[in-house]
Amino acid sequence: MSGIDVVVLASGSGSDFQSIVDACEADEIDANVALLITNNPDAYCITRAREHGIQHGVLDHRGLSRREHEKKLEKELDKIDPDLIVLAGFMRIFTDDFVEKYYGKMINIHPALLPLFGGPGMYGEHVHHAVLDSGMKVSGCSVHFVTNEVDMGPIIAQRCVPVKHDDSVDTLAGRVLEEEHKLLPKVVGYFADGRVNLEDGKAWVE
Ligand code: GAR
Repeated sequence: MSGIDVVVLASGSGSDFQSIVDACEADEIDANVALLITNNPDAYCITRAREHGIQHGVLDHRGLSRREHEKKLEKELDKIDPDLIVLAGFMRIFTDDFVEKYYGKMINIHPALLPLFGGPGMYGEHVHHAVLDSGMKVSGCSVHFVTNEVDMGPIIAQRCVPVKHDDSVDTLAGRVLEEEHKLLPKVVGYFADGRVNLEDGKAWVE
């Protein structure tokens, strides 16, 4: 198989993971998802991986210290030695050691226009609640490199959606998620094509 090897980390439904798998299967991007790892034994992303014949593993964090859990993750990641690690709805915050080890090859998708509406506690529906409360007329999604400041790493690419006056958290989340499914595989494709640059804390796509 040609292309870059990607490992995806997810904790939930895995629709973002699915968007990458679909793009790989359709040959839209020169990448393969080598492994899915989840920390949640009940996550639907496991079913998705199984259905697509993708190697997957469950590394439950419960009962382990943050570092113990990360050591197990590192062991699995290092077996594959991926070109890219994608956090796709992975609901864990990493230690500085872990982030440093994979700096430059680990990216995250966030359901808002960073640097707004990011940081600890800003995940899932909390983000959309905050956007609706703010009165902002646009929201969107961001893909960024992971650094030790939660959600604040160099931004690689973003997409916008309108916020409508009668939006609920669900309607806004759905509109943003649709864009996530376009943006995330596109960014993985940029990596596959060697178009992503990172220098002095800034990222850009050539
Ligand atoms: C996505 O909206 C993703 O942006 C968000 O979790 C959802 C996962 O959906 N991530 C965060 O909030 C991280 N701060 P999925 O499980 O269907 O891919």
